[in-house]
Amino acid sequence: MKILIDEKNRKYVVPEGKDEVHTHYGVVSLKDVPVNSRVKSHLGREFAYIEGNTLDLCEKLPRTVSTVLRKDFGAIIANTGIGGGSRVIEAGTGSGAVSIALANIVKPAGKVYTYEIREDFFGKAKQNIELSGFGNFVEMRLKDIREGIEEKEVDAVILDMPDPWSTAKHAYEALKWGGFIAAYSPYIEQSRKTTEALKEAGFRGIKTLEMIEREMEIKDVGIRPRTRMLGHTAYLTFGRKY
Ligand SMILES: C[S@@+](CC[C@H](N)C(=O)[O-])C[C@H]1O[C@@H](n2cnc3c(N)ncnc32)[C@H](O)[C@@H]1O
Repeated sequence: MKILIDEKNRKYVVPEGKDEVHTHYGVVSLKDVPVNSRVKSHLGREFAYIEGNTLDLCEKLPRTVSTVLRKDFGAIIANTGIGGGSRVIEAGTGSGAVSIALANIVKPAGKVYTYEIREDFFGKAKQNIELSGFGNFVEMRLKDIREGIEEKEVDAVILDMPDPWSTAKHAYEALKWGGFIAAYSPYIEQSRKTTEALKEAGFRGIKTLEMIEREMEIKDVGIRPRTRMLGHTAYLTFGRKY
């Protein structure tokens, strides 16, 4: 996927087969412009023209639902030890953004098995995953994960769904010894219920984290945190089978 980035760091996807993009700063013609270069719009504003990576793709995907943000995704990876070759269960698929980001981590030897209960979301996510080029590393299941997880001996189970506690026992059965569960929940009451269910299912090393991100403004006059920040996304509850 090729993208343009403007002076304000706004990104525009270059549609496949098209060489003209309409932006906030005028029309950019890409005829005979090599990718990974700079280009000017008809208003003389400068853009970077680059081959986007998974980060860009996940930002620009058509969304059906809200997704896990980078700070939380990073914490999930860091606290579960997922890497190349890992086999990971995910629910729900939503728009497929997390499935794609996970596939980017586990490829080429690993696999993401993603469960989605809603047929309409499943179809949209399928399109997004195919578009990403990571389809070979993602297996999609149109299924309520509360009815059970088909895979066994997996490295991690990652849940972004309203009632992750309902899947604690299935997750424990699906995980290999030493495998992790991670649940992403906007409300602390959800984390509490998940914690209780994880204990009951036999998980250990249970903890809940909130990731706070503060961006700094570095200017000639001085350095300080930005006035506005993202107040809250979710709590992350982790447990391990051992
Ligand atoms: C917040 S969204 C997940 C967003 C996703 N992480 C993404 O990146 O787009 C929650 C999703 O979980 C799905 N869901 C809810 N309960 C489920 C269940 N029991 N089994 C499978 N999917 C479920 C919903 O239909 C919805 O698509």
